[in-house]
Amino acid sequence: MYTERVMDHFNNPRNMGEVDHFNAEGTVGNAKCGDIMRITMRIEDGVIQDVKFKTFGCGAAVATSSMATEMVKGKPVEEALKLTNSAVVEALEGLPPAKIHCSVLAEEAVKAAIDDYQKRRQG
Ligand code: FES
Repeated sequence: MYTERVMDHFNNPRNMGEVDHFNAEGTVGNAKCGDIMRITMRIEDGVIQDVKFKTFGCGAAVATSSMATEMVKGKPVEEALKLTNSAVVEALEGLPPAKIHCSVLAEEAVKAAIDDYQKRRQG
């Protein structure tokens, strides 16, 4: 039911934890299941140097966040803002339909963290 790629990211999640000296933080809740995702980033000169996640979500949330953090790491924030949950699901070669809502957490937390960074800069 889960692709090999999903199982790989679930069993060996990339970028789990909290970035040291982060300057961007986004925490979001999933309206559908009530689970929570927190993403921290260190952004320098508009580029995401480091990014990590922590989640109370399920295995699909772990796998999608692991993939999403890999996809935005090293990218300019403008590019990271274009990340969609469907691009993450595609990179994982699919998710069962009942778990698509889990992938939204990662996308929203990335956007919330970048929003936080931009607010701090205006600060
Ligand atoms: Fe809540 Fe998957 S069931 S994130």
